[in-house]
Amino acid sequence: MYGMVNRALQNMIIDEAGDAGWGSVCRRAGMEPPVFVSMDTYDDAITYALVGAASTELERDAGELLHALGLYWIRVTAAESYESIFHMHGSSLRGFLENLDQMHARLSLHFPEMRAPSFEVEDAEHGMHVRYWSDRPGLAPFVKGLLAGLCERFGEPYAVRHVGGRDDGRDHELFHLEPTA
Ligand code: HEM
Repeated sequence: MYGMVNRALQNMIIDEAGDAGWGSVCRRAGMEPPVFVSMDTYDDAITYALVGAASTELERDAGELLHALGLYWIRVTAAESYESIFHMHGSSLRGFLENLDQMHARLSLHFPEMRAPSFEVEDAEHGMHVRYWSDRPGLAPFVKGLLAGLCERFGEPYAVRHVGGRDDGRDHELFHLEPTA
């Protein structure tokens, strides 16, 4: 995974637990606190190990941490560093979600080793369905947090529910977004 994702995780943990807490998480994951470079790639095992160690260290469920990371990505990382990318790719939640693959495809010009996820949106009874494909396992809670962050960002209140996915034999994860207002 590109360093920017690990950096977001690092910043989120430092916000919550300080530099000392981050140090403890890294050591629990079997490493000295690394310096993540946004544009460098790192083995996915590092990201998973840090999430696992943070879960133990902060006594928070790993899925809940990934969800928090999705929210943090939208509220803090993207808002601080990638605002222009947001503006270019849609002014409504639906439009933005429809453009997500195109957005990651454009980004892959700058991040050539990127293994981008893929998304599809469609109408569903009471709202919409979002489908998410990735060759990485276990990131559905991250996507749920990203989707919740996007709803907040676009001021479009939806309840985001993870309907199911690989655990029940699909090749993708399915989310239902139901309007709450
Ligand atoms: C605007 C800012 C964004 C930037 C700059 C960005 C960039 C990236 C980069 C560089 C990666 C790492 C891929 C790799 O190393 O192979 C990534 C992964 C990912 N991105 Fe984005 N992204 C952005 C917004 C979003 C949004 C809004 C969503 C979704 C709702 C999203 C969904 C994901 C997911 C789920 C992954 C994990 C990779 C996987 O599933 O395999 N991203 N993104």
